[in-house]
Amino acid sequence: MQLFLDTASVAEIRTMWEVGILDGVTTNPSLVAKEGRKFDDVLREVCGLGVPSVSAEVVATDTDGMLTEGRRLREIHRSIYVKVPMTAAGLKATKVLAQEGTRVNMTLVFSANQALLAAKVGAAYVSPFIGRLDDQGQDGMGLIRDIVQIYRNYSYPTKVLVASVRHPIHVLDAAKAGADIATMPFAVMEKLVQHPLTDLGLARFLKDWEKVPKG
Ligand code: E4P
Repeated sequence: MQLFLDTASVAEIRTMWEVGILDGVTTNPSLVAKEGRKFDDVLREVCGLGVPSVSAEVVATDTDGMLTEGRRLREIHRSIYVKVPMTAAGLKATKVLAQEGTRVNMTLVFSANQALLAAKVGAAYVSPFIGRLDDQGQDGMGLIRDIVQIYRNYSYPTKVLVASVRHPIHVLDAAKAGADIATMPFAVMEKLVQHPLTDLGLARFLKDWEKVPKG
């Protein structure tokens, strides 16, 4: 399963890119607003690191506006995936963009039927928001299992990108469900690396090593 960071912080992206476990980045308007930087500058910097998949969201809500923004965004760098919201206008825009060869990430997906539609119009990624569903008392991971099954039934090439991930168990369950990608905040990715027994074990090895005769 591919691991993406859900952030617009170049510092966070650079850190995980250098560790070597990062496959891509997703951004959204809220994450970009938090950074206080021009969107295009952030995108150019992240793509410049060599990150092969960087999702950039349109903010237009009508099809023509989405097409104009999507075409502009894809010109910024070959690694850009255009993020389009799951609305009727978004489906229409996705179909056109996909036919033009642009890779679209359909976002704000909360049902399996919406995911089916994203696949039908040729989206490269579908982004179901599982944390927000869990927050509503609905089964976010159940939705992932349904989408994975539906896409397998019909051999849709659309990749399932698990979004709105809140903790490492979401990542584990996404992998068990056969999702293609999980995108997560920096703090969650850090937790994938760490385990208290690793730290304890390392400290003990180093302490014991001091007792070994040297020279
Ligand atoms: C996905 O691409 C979204 O940016 C994201 O995962 C939303 O997560 P949130 O529910 O934590 O805002």
